[in-house]
Amino acid sequence: MSLTVLGIETSCDETAAAVVRGGSEVLSSVVYSQVPLHRPYGGVVPEIASRSHIEKIRGIVEAAMTQAFGSCDWSRIDAVAATYGPGLAPALLVGWNAAKGISIAAGKPLVAVHHMYAHLHAVRLGHPELREEALYPQFGLAVSGGHTCFIASDAPGSCRLLGQTIDDAAGEAFDKAAKCLGLGYPGGPVIDRLARTLPPEERRTIDFPLGRVSADHPLPEGWQHDLCVSFSGLKTALITYVRKHPPRDERDVARICSAYQEAIVEALALRADLALKRGRYRSFAVGGGVSLNGRLREALSGVAQARGVPVYFAAPAYCGDNAAMIAGYASAGGGIREGALALDIDPSLPI
Ligand code: KG4
Ligand code: ZN
Repeated sequence: MSLTVLGIETSCDETAAAVVRGGSEVLSSVVYSQVPLHRPYGGVVPEIASRSHIEKIRGIVEAAMTQAFGSCDWSRIDAVAATYGPGLAPALLVGWNAAKGISIAAGKPLVAVHHMYAHLHAVRLGHPELREEALYPQFGLAVSGGHTCFIASDAPGSCRLLGQTIDDAAGEAFDKAAKCLGLGYPGGPVIDRLARTLPPEERRTIDFPLGRVSADHPLPEGWQHDLCVSFSGLKTALITYVRKHPPRDERDVARICSAYQEAIVEALALRADLALKRGRYRSFAVGGGVSLNGRLREALSGVAQARGVPVYFAAPAYCGDNAAMIAGYASAGGGIREGALALDIDPSLPI
């Protein structure tokens, strides 16, 4: 039987609710972005995020239910799911507790969803033809403002972390570079746009480091050194470069942005290539806000094609934080049901 699930997501700076049926059919997806509230600070302020989620959550849930069913009719859903981690504690608490409230009041089961597993599930939204049998075992790259993880999964929810960033996430690296260049927040979209203004031969006129993690760096069991990445040195290299060569015009800024972006893209593509070479995967899934990046999509498509593994990107509407990925994952049978009402949020929920 195909489940219809209301999903709620408030792990960072988006207040989102959605209704999804059978893992892939999106009946509604409503996202309120707080970006303008955080822009003056150059990053997400947890206290502001939390207060804004509290203000918006009720209206966003009602909008998602009304768009899906014409009214807020709880009898139409089989369960309510929400992100319980990882994320910012004061932000997570709002969505998780709203979902608990709905679960109790409407008498519907509650499902606890791992935010990163949902990012990888997002490739299936709007694509009922992507059946589980054809996707697993799967290699996944979840790449956002808070995470950069290389994940192997034998089945949905059965994930093993192969490696990840040991410091800044890729999106954070974009955001910090934009801040340093005075380009505003968030940095990824503006760096992507400026880099596109250059002809291909000017894409990489500066050499930035590819974030290798040395073999003697201590890592948790199971993580592979060459599948981990460090982006903090890249940011330092940028600051040093800009100090020595202050940009004179827009084209100089574009060259810096582009070379920086190329370094991030190559760093991720190198690791993806290694992982695809080592493992036996039926598919490669890419999700998270940074997966909107045009050059990253190009590079990862090239790597996957060369390794003969089909690559799936989330549709643009489902790359950044959204609730369709939460509802979708839960309506495909993922997440924790047993004892979910007693579960607390987990801001650093491991993979
Ligand atoms: O998944 P997301 O919406 O939120 C988190 O869970 O973090 O990702 C936000 C991140 C930001 O760091 C933003 O700069 C980055 O995604 N981003 C991009 C692009 N669009 C958004 N990075 C590179 N290129 C883009 N086009
Ligand atoms: Zn996210």
